[in-house]
Amino acid sequence: MTTDIAKKVTTCRVCGASNWQDVISFGAVPLANAYLDEPGPEDAYPLELVSCRECRLLSLTVVVDPQVLYRTYSYVTSESETMTRHMREVARLCGERIGPGGLVVELGSNTGNQLQLFQAAGHPVLGVDPARNLAETAAQRGVPTLAEYFGAEIAGAIAAEHGRASLILGRHVFAHIDDLTDVLAGVKALLTDDGLFAIEVPYAVDLLDQVAFDTVYHEHLSYFLISTLDRLFARHGLRTVDVRRLAVHGGSVLVTAARADSRWETGERVGELIAYEKEQGFHTDARYEQFAARVRTTCKELTDLVRKEVANGRRVAGYGASAKGTTLLNICRLTRAEVQFCTDTTPQKQGRFTPGTHIPILAPADVAEQPDLYLMLAWNYAEEILRREAAYLDAGGGFIIPVPQPVVHTRREARR
Ligand code: TYD
Ligand code: ZN
Repeated sequence: MTTDIAKKVTTCRVCGASNWQDVISFGAVPLANAYLDEPGPEDAYPLELVSCRECRLLSLTVVVDPQVLYRTYSYVTSESETMTRHMREVARLCGERIGPGGLVVELGSNTGNQLQLFQAAGHPVLGVDPARNLAETAAQRGVPTLAEYFGAEIAGAIAAEHGRASLILGRHVFAHIDDLTDVLAGVKALLTDDGLFAIEVPYAVDLLDQVAFDTVYHEHLSYFLISTLDRLFARHGLRTVDVRRLAVHGGSVLVTAARADSRWETGERVGELIAYEKEQGFHTDARYEQFAARVRTTCKELTDLVRKEVANGRRVAGYGASAKGTTLLNICRLTRAEVQFCTDTTPQKQGRFTPGTHIPILAPADVAEQPDLYLMLAWNYAEEILRREAAYLDAGGGFIIPVPQPVVHTRREARR
């Protein structure tokens, strides 16, 4: 399908080949962050995963126009304990390497939380984020932010005005970008000779191992292996320097690259993970077929479980109206008949309705009567949430953790 808004992917954005393995099709799904003011008709776009047989990029089959996705963006970086701790760790890991005083530029800087940590460490900073609403919030917090899409042109303008950057950071943004060539040209134009480019992306290995199919939505165009990123960087005159596996967002990697001819040496972990991916079959069709089969099983088990609980008279609600929740509810066909409401701490989502499934979103404080079970739609924060909701659990409440296999978590048991 090619419309003005959704463009069909033909060649691989990493290697240029067009030899795709069909992995899974979820049918037409609305945009994950397109919360509704009123339930009503909405646009839906194909949500399908394919794998490039040349470089094993896992990609969506359509690219939704970024103007539609990002100009006003309701996704606000979580200020949860987990995320705050994680951002400190990223600031420490990257800060340690670049040394004091150098310019830090962040792509997809959202409301500026991450850059504030670099500011506190004495770095001049600049955010780049196309969402005008978020750029304004960041600026009000004292984090200078350009409301632009990053690319070669804007990179040249930044270098001319602010000088070159010691660090360019992109947390959970690189996988959202279609034209990687333009972005990497921008990175090269803006980085100092020994500057570092650090990206945090969901790790395709974790996506498959954790059956985290709900992290697939239209914003996430690419799901990377380290070998795929390494190949991409090499094609653009960069070299992978280091990689770290991280627990955030269901399993991510922080990958650092530098100019191919820079002073940085490539750490051992890079080769180790590339070898691991090969050993584990991530370069074979079979691994992706197995994933698709596991997704179908997980979905069916979850739908059956929720329907059974509802049939037994239990009230079920969603915990966290996350973007991945949109995928999960739509794919598993769970609507208001099963899930009475969702709670979410984000003010911009409260009082609105979930895309496609039209479930009302409430502020946690507005829940008059707690449900018997919460379906954990923000399962990436499960540990923190289970700790915080101790009183609810003590009172007999439970959580359904949907992936990798649905499990009901109560004070008494963890059952399937
Ligand atoms: P997030 O995990 O950031 O991911 P995504 O939207 O990319 O799937 O979304 C988590 C959502 O859950 C976000 O809207 C905030 C909400 N949330 C709560 O309502 N309560 C919580 O305790 C936490 C940690 C998150
Ligand atoms: Zn490819």
